[in-house]
Amino acid sequence: MDDLAPQEAAVLDQISRNPFAGQQEIADALGIARSTVAAHVVQLIKKGYILGRGYVLPTSGQVLCIGGAVFDRKYRALQPLVAETSNPVEAFHSFGGVARNVVENLARLGEPVGFVSILGDDQTGHHILGHLRDQGVDVSRVIIAPDATTAEYGAILTPAGELALGIADMAIFDRLTPAALSRVWSHVAGAAWVFADANLPAETLAALIRRHEGGRYQLTIDGVSTHKIRKLPADLSGIDLLFMNADEAAALLDLPVARDLPEALDAARAAVARGAKRAQVSMGAQGLAIAGDGYELVIPAVPAASVDITGAGDAMVAGTLHALVSGHDFPTAARTGALMGALTVETPGTVRADLGREMLETHARSRLTAPSAAAPAPELTTPTTPTTPATA
Ligand SMILES: Nc1ncnc2c1ncn2[C@@H]1O[C@H](COP(=O)(O)OP(=O)(O)OP(=O)(O)O)[C@@H](O)[C@H]1O
Ligand SMILES: [Mg+2]
Repeated sequence: MDDLAPQEAAVLDQISRNPFAGQQEIADALGIARSTVAAHVVQLIKKGYILGRGYVLPTSGQVLCIGGAVFDRKYRALQPLVAETSNPVEAFHSFGGVARNVVENLARLGEPVGFVSILGDDQTGHHILGHLRDQGVDVSRVIIAPDATTAEYGAILTPAGELALGIADMAIFDRLTPAALSRVWSHVAGAAWVFADANLPAETLAALIRRHEGGRYQLTIDGVSTHKIRKLPADLSGIDLLFMNADEAAALLDLPVARDLPEALDAARAAVARGAKRAQVSMGAQGLAIAGDGYELVIPAVPAASVDITGAGDAMVAGTLHALVSGHDFPTAARTGALMGALTVETPGTVRADLGREMLETHARSRLTAPSAAAPAPELTTPTTPTTPATA
């Protein structure tokens, strides 16, 4: 609330206590003119503290996703790459950004979701916004910056699909400051679950964790990359669930990179020892490990014929959240996450286009075995599309 003048804050306080209060009533309580109250209400709407003239409070039961929205461009060389000249390529374009991918997965699973991010006032920005709106995501709190470009990731791949050169323009995320977070705080505070990714600046992640104290929602965070996860504070208390892959866990916790699921479980335990209420550490085709909330266990991957691994981790996050929101326990939620990861590697898209709640339930019935049963090793086939995951 750093961007509120004392009188604005006082008006907001009156409205929070009694959302039906009339402007004259508020004016009398504060000893100011009714017209002054009206002017403050306009400012509070502009700044996002109240949602409309009727003092509409935020929707409850919502999952709010905060973080990166990226446009990914990948180019696979048709012949061995030659430097300093033009190389013929095959191009692949997709939407990316961890929070964007998670929110799209959740929307496809029928969850009421809101998205907080920042886009440029450019073609890719409008394309991302329109696509999420079409999926039913509440995008009313996405910031459109007229003087910045939408985040972009570019990859040049060898004919075999290996990364030859990656480029990332993510500068726009620096604008997701703690003040920007304050402007959407009523949405954060009104959500049942909040998911944030480490594309947010360190100060914003710290503010989110600090302000969560006493909040009603559950705060969940994804590490994004070995570089970005280091933005998290050393003390992880205040985080209800931290998602990381094995590399990110090693970077955050100063541990050797886990080579198998028992070592991934050690990493999850270490995150809990640092204060996280729960931690989920993923290991691609091996599966994942969870610790916290009274549970410590490894969950082997659901066998899948993989064609493109992009988006597996983000789908896993969405699957876990979807099950938690529905009231399932942590192990059941993590198993749903593993299934979502498997479903996502089976198709070329970052988010599976045919994903839906019933489709997920059908797969859960046929592909999720009893917790104690050992799962067979996943069968892997040669990828047919570029498999280099984007970095954000
Ligand atoms: N080849 C696969 N077969 C079956 N399941 C998989 C496969 N790859 C990933 N998964 C499932 O998805 C989960 C998340 O995948 P992974 O560990 O690769 O996430 P990540 O490294 O965060 O990936 P991303 O680049 O999408 O962020 C795994 O724990 C696993 O359950
Ligand atoms: Mg990931």
